[in-house]
Amino acid sequence: MLAKLFSLPGKVALITGASRGIGRSIALAFAEAGAKLAVSSRNKRPPELEKVAEQVHAMGGEALVIPAHVGKKAEVQKLVQGTLQAFGRIDVLVNNAGANPILSSMVDLEEEAFDKVLEVNLKGAFLMSKAVAKEMIKQGGGRIINISSVSGLRARADQTGAYCISKAALNMMTQVMARELAPHNILVNAIAPGSIKTEFSRVNWTDPDRQAQRIREIELKRFGEPEEVVGLALFLATEASSFVTGEIIRVDGGQTI
Ligand SMILES: NC(=O)c1ccc[n+]([C@@H]2O[C@H](COP(=O)([O-])OP(=O)(O)OC[C@H]3O[C@@H](n4cnc5c(N)ncnc54)[C@H](OP(=O)(O)O)[C@@H]3O)[C@@H](O)[C@H]2O)c1
Repeated sequence: MLAKLFSLPGKVALITGASRGIGRSIALAFAEAGAKLAVSSRNKRPPELEKVAEQVHAMGGEALVIPAHVGKKAEVQKLVQGTLQAFGRIDVLVNNAGANPILSSMVDLEEEAFDKVLEVNLKGAFLMSKAVAKEMIKQGGGRIINISSVSGLRARADQTGAYCISKAALNMMTQVMARELAPHNILVNAIAPGSIKTEFSRVNWTDPDRQAQRIREIELKRFGEPEEVVGLALFLATEASSFVTGEIIRVDGGQTI
């Protein structure tokens, strides 16, 4: 019973930003749970994404590598079509790709930087969800998991304003789409990680002031590891969460209590 609740036998999962960090950990866990994978990232450093696929193959699983920039419509279409051609369906979409290219106060933030953050974190998830949900409607159901952030729940004054705004909007998109897609048996939820030790958050765990500030905030007094986001992702992708939709669930070591 328990194994059935948390497994994904024969399911097809498409994961963006799967080359490293949180996306990579989710991809490997979903493969272990029995899913066939399409893994994607812009693939600027090709070996990273291919290595994830190789690890999945070594486990006896299936993983298709399709590079795509999630903010570019034509690339999103290629990614979704390529996945459908290979596997015939998409049961789980994880919108994990995210960007925070620049630290700046809102008044000094360049328009281009604002656009870039919104393009990847919000428009990317929108384009992906729109394309995949159309297929899920035809299939009769599916799961969409948005990787948001606690920065979308509480305003930070640490030069990450555009990022906070993008994730707050992603939370609202999660809830709007959860309501719109519920009649089609598509469950849409978000995970809001706190401070997780990845390449993306490097400045937060290498800059002594930022690190000390984070540790002060986090009740568990440490950064999380990418693997610590996996349990919730697996819950949201499987039968275990069949009556959960429109939720934004924090994995933050008590940072925002
Ligand atoms: N780490 C944290 O503390 C933390 C906290 C809260 C939320 N999050 C969220 O968790 C998600 C994953 O972050 P992470 O910490 O695991 O970061 P990471 O280790 O830097 O991984 C980011 C992934 O996204 C891909 N990516 C970046 N821009 C992309 C684009 N335009 N199109 C497609 N793929 C793109 C990257 O690959 P390429 O470079 O090859 O494209 C990489 O695979 C993000 O949405 C982030 O906002 C992270």
